[in-house]
Amino acid sequence: MVKMPPEVRETLAKQKPVPIATASKSGVPNVIFVGAFKILDDENIMIADNFFYKTAQNLMENPKIAILCYNGETKKSYQIKGSVTLCTEGENFEQMRKWVHGINEKLPAKTCVMVKVDEIYNAMWGPSAGKKIV
Ligand SMILES: Cc1cc2nc3c(=O)[nH]c(=O)nc-3n(C[C@H](O)[C@H](O)[C@H](O)COP(=O)(O)O)c2cc1C
Repeated sequence: MVKMPPEVRETLAKQKPVPIATASKSGVPNVIFVGAFKILDDENIMIADNFFYKTAQNLMENPKIAILCYNGETKKSYQIKGSVTLCTEGENFEQMRKWVHGINEKLPAKTCVMVKVDEIYNAMWGPSAGKKIV
């Protein structure tokens, strides 16, 4: 079980939007910006799918994600890799809809993307670049 260290949580929490990468089953990469995400705890991140298209297709056939964050003040950058569960009903889905519709009730809030953190890498330049953190 992988837990996000405090500096990773802080770096991710301060950045909006964040780039998220997915890939199709055959390995075609795709990257988008996401503003609607929440760090639920040390192991779980919730993302609101409002407008995902290729991303939604990719996650259905290959439920893996990479999230990139960077803070220019602290000079910290991380790649967070995770496994995804897609929810279109249930407690997490209802929580996502409430949150998204609290921002703007016209947003579609189609799917709740639950990310379980699997691995975290240092993505800052320098000697530790690319090293696995957890
Ligand atoms: C600044 C910014 C923030 C965005 N935030 C979200 C978001 O939180 N949720 C979402 O579904 N789409 C968001 N989008 C739209 C996606 O980046 C993207 O356009 C959409 O997923 C369609 O691309 P795809 O076919 O590669 O999935 C955002 C776009 C920008 C430019």
